[in-house]
Amino acid sequence: MSLKKIIQQDKNYVLQTYNRKPLILVRGKGIYVWDIENNRYFDFFPGWAVNNLGHCYPAVVDAINKQSKDLLHISNSYYNLPQTELAKMLCHLSFADKVFFCNSGAEANESAIKLARKYAKRNLGSNKYEIITMLGSFHGRTMAALSATGQKKYQQGFEPLVRGFKHVPFNDFEALKKAISEKTCAVMLELIQGEGGVNSISLEYLKKLHNLCKKKKILLIFDEVQTGIGRTGKMFAYQHFGIKPDIMTLAKALGGGVPIGAMLTTDKVASSFKAGDHASTFGGNPLACAAAIAVLKTIKEKNILKNTMEKGSYFFKKLKEIKKEFSFIKDVRGKGLMLAMELSFEGEKIVEDFSREKVLINCTQGNILRFMPPLNVNKKEIDMFLKILKNIFRQYEKLGKKRK
Ligand SMILES: Cc1ncc(COP(=O)(O)O)c(C=O)c1O
Repeated sequence: MSLKKIIQQDKNYVLQTYNRKPLILVRGKGIYVWDIENNRYFDFFPGWAVNNLGHCYPAVVDAINKQSKDLLHISNSYYNLPQTELAKMLCHLSFADKVFFCNSGAEANESAIKLARKYAKRNLGSNKYEIITMLGSFHGRTMAALSATGQKKYQQGFEPLVRGFKHVPFNDFEALKKAISEKTCAVMLELIQGEGGVNSISLEYLKKLHNLCKKKKILLIFDEVQTGIGRTGKMFAYQHFGIKPDIMTLAKALGGGVPIGAMLTTDKVASSFKAGDHASTFGGNPLACAAAIAVLKTIKEKNILKNTMEKGSYFFKKLKEIKKEFSFIKDVRGKGLMLAMELSFEGEKIVEDFSREKVLINCTQGNILRFMPPLNVNKKEIDMFLKILKNIFRQYEKLGKKRK
């Protein structure tokens, strides 16, 4: 079938909820993906921050192959070996004592919202249900996660939203203090807002927020769906700040490309959920858990966090240098290999230019280019990327000068 016909088939039969690029990707290996015409692309935003080990990482593929021969799926009415093993690994790697498994970031956040409400109602009073979240945040597309999300553009047309969410400006402690009431049960936030434009929390704000939550018996929920699993150079972003949450959500990179989400919490909070309070048919499925175990083992055995820190700071330094050359770059920011460049104009055209040069990147919020290569990226690959980026930017500068 021709490229045109396949795209037409998609338009005919798939709900058109995505602005897709005209690329049909059929194969991937490491930092590369190939399209149906065998063009090779350099993937600097693999799978919306899912493929942290690159495409089809061998140990993950092997784990999936092996598990698929033993057991693909059983219900949560029975115990399953990969699920209990993965839960133990996640608890040993984090602050948590217990894990609930699901299938996506939105679903992990739904679980966190439900648990926070149940905990507060059980322990602190029936009127405690309100959750404060940040403007510019992104927590997912299901109704409660959407209501938690602090961006109107995603909510319009879906009202009425779920009640009980208040949004406050990010990094503004006074606003947060004002928003807290006797109804507040939790504060939920990303430590680095991903979709919102790679905006980092300030340590000072986080410390004050943490103290206030402790004092007022308010749960702290970190959404690490995008920042988790090594993306920022630590297994979880909260480990940079030395402040632990009561609940943390994960998804994206956890399964190395296989859908899985998780909500992690302490024993104290977890005990509010009784059997039957929450469930998910596919949550913690043996296949997904086997893939996730392989991801976590690889991160440890291959020293992936060290590489993320080293290559992240090299990449960041180089991007900062490039910023000095081009006046239209307003900012370079991020942590580890979660990096972004803010432009003074719309970035979608630049994404297309990169794609013509066979490089895949992302643009968020209209003008913020996001670079999130696999965490095992090497220096040569970063240098190749930077060379292409500079060439594209030079052309833009020339065009800009001509316009003047
Ligand atoms: C921080 C954060 N939370 C939640 C989500 C939603 O995850 P999912 O698309 O798996 O539901 C995303 C997705 O981009 C995210 O970045």
